[in-house]
Amino acid sequence: MTCGSTDWPGSVLITEVGPRDGLQNEQTVVPAAIKIELIRRLAAAGCASIEATSFVSPKWVPQLADAAEVMRGLPRRAGLRYTALTPNLKGFEAALAAGVDEVAVFVAASESFSQKNINCSIAESLDRAEPLIAAAQVAGVPVRGYLSCVIACPYEGAIAPEKIRPIAEMLLAMGCYEISLGDTIGAGTAGTVQALLEVLLPGISADRLAGHFHDTYGQALANVLAALRLGIRHFDSSVGGLGGCPYARGATGNLATEDLVYLLNGLKIETGIDLDRLAAAGQFIADFLGRPSHSRVARALAAKQEVA
Ligand code: HMG
Ligand code: MG
Repeated sequence: MTCGSTDWPGSVLITEVGPRDGLQNEQTVVPAAIKIELIRRLAAAGCASIEATSFVSPKWVPQLADAAEVMRGLPRRAGLRYTALTPNLKGFEAALAAGVDEVAVFVAASESFSQKNINCSIAESLDRAEPLIAAAQVAGVPVRGYLSCVIACPYEGAIAPEKIRPIAEMLLAMGCYEISLGDTIGAGTAGTVQALLEVLLPGISADRLAGHFHDTYGQALANVLAALRLGIRHFDSSVGGLGGCPYARGATGNLATEDLVYLLNGLKIETGIDLDRLAAAGQFIADFLGRPSHSRVARALAAKQEVA
């Protein structure tokens, strides 16, 4: 479809990260049964790629200590892919044993964030990722690479786009099929996202990049639009805008999936996700957590239902 000078794609893939990126930051312990029910509802709404949990140290992220129980309890269907964060071989082996379809390694573009988040330097994290990716290849498990702080770091401030490219290229060369560009603290704007992609895209093709925008400054939808215009076709988002990163103080949740689907519906871009069922899944977890959804679209839909 054409809108002005932009050729919009026919479809976009959304990876729903609420059960992982969203819940990892919650202080209230969410029982495994609630996590499984949330994921079941997300899958029933049409989400085809769901980041279900993390196989990380339970001392670092106690909320996700039940990763294996959650992964084992998930409904399966053809075309539905469950992914999990794995920081090292120990995490990968646990994820594999629990039946994960895909794993994600995570590396930062900032030394300070790398130390706070995974207790090692960027170089050490790449060294950790290498055997994990090799083991995943042997097991036939696709690996996604997250690159955090691609716009700014909570400790170091702005990160130059030129710093991102070599790390992304290294992860791709090791065998990641895609790099998800993490604006961890949601500081990006359409301008900085465009500037980043203009540095990356000459060497890395758009189909090997995804956008992972947190919405701290309310810019995530604009960032999606900027990335869409430059050919990015895969975005991460979180139902109800849940979440944040425990090692990035003040960063709020990801872009809400309801808001992303509403934007894409308006552009006639197919996602396979039913907005009403998605919003109901968001309401389910908001009710459990005892607070309203962060999604503007979910709140508008709920208000419309109250009036009707
Ligand atoms: P460490 O303490 O340096 O590691 O943590 P260690 O190797 O010394 O191990 C310490 C203990 O953890 C040991 O247990 C290990 O067995 C255990 P102990 O002997 O003390 O009983 N351990 C594990 N347990 C379970 N699963 C594992 C595992 N590995 C070691 N995989 C480590 C290093 C990486 C493990 C730790 O720092 C960690 O788990 N960090 C995770 C932090 C995290 O999950 N952060 C949030 C996700 S990143 C994010 O949100 C950003 C993203 O969304 C993109 C964006 O927005 O930018 C992805
Ligand atoms: Mg994130």
